[in-house]
Amino acid sequence: MKPLLNFDQVSVRYGSFLALDGVSLDIQEGECLALVGESGSGKTTLARAALGLQPISAGEVRLMGQAIQGTRGGQAAEIGIVWQDPYASLDPRWTIGRIIEEPGVLAKVEVDVRALMEEVGLDPSLHSRFPHQLSGGQRQRVAIARAIALKPKVLICDEPTAALDLSVQAQILNLLKDLLRMEQLTCLYISHDLATVRYIADRVAVLKSGRLVESGPIQKVFEDPQESYTRELLSSAPRLLI
Ligand SMILES: Nc1ncnc2c1ncn2[C@@H]1O[C@H](COP(=O)(O)OP(=O)(O)OP(=O)(O)O)[C@@H](O)[C@H]1O
Ligand SMILES: [Mg+2]
Repeated sequence: MKPLLNFDQVSVRYGSFLALDGVSLDIQEGECLALVGESGSGKTTLARAALGLQPISAGEVRLMGQAIQGTRGGQAAEIGIVWQDPYASLDPRWTIGRIIEEPGVLAKVEVDVRALMEEVGLDPSLHSRFPHQLSGGQRQRVAIARAIALKPKVLICDEPTAALDLSVQAQILNLLKDLLRMEQLTCLYISHDLATVRYIADRVAVLKSGRLVESGPIQKVFEDPQESYTRELLSSAPRLLI
């Protein structure tokens, strides 16, 4: 089967530092692949490479067989992104409605802000509010609405619940899980939180210092990790909430 998103020997350098070292990874249509690894292992760098935000020094990222080059063109509409921190990722000067509408403005297509708000569990009457008037969970819902506004094929989530209160994390996780199914999205789900990963993802890939050390179906990797690094990650997992 041809992968929807394909990282082919991707390397990224920051100056002399090699942040990603020949990472090859396929994400099949409709699956949710979790990317785990300790802080600094290169997870966000990989997400940025997929979005065309990060120049890569070797290899290629392909979406439906087409190399990703920069953020312009049709590809930007095909990949939605939800970042960790909804405080930082939403422009404080814009209303909620304007924020959700923005991808449509850039792509010159009509976006149904009201329907999107309903889809992510936000009361549409909040559209004229500003981000600081919303709770952390509501803000992350705004970020999710914006990410799916153009009906992307792929949704990348980079620690989407990490900045939220514990009580809100499960709500956002459930919302994402429902959206993946309803919108038939393909997902790259980045997280430290292995309990979350187990709940939402089909497969998991383990990154260590910019290299992929192990990947496979969730259950297999969690129950029978082949690499000592994966075993350490699993044994240091602080909690299994779900
Ligand atoms: N713009 C940059 N310039 C220089 N080094 C960077 C830059 N961005 C990231 N790095 C370095 O590259 C490595 C990978 O960073 P990255 O943000 O991808 O890690 P991460 O796995 O997302 O970590 P975290 O779990 O803390 O979010 C780190 O060592 C980081 O310090
Ligand atoms: Mg990161």
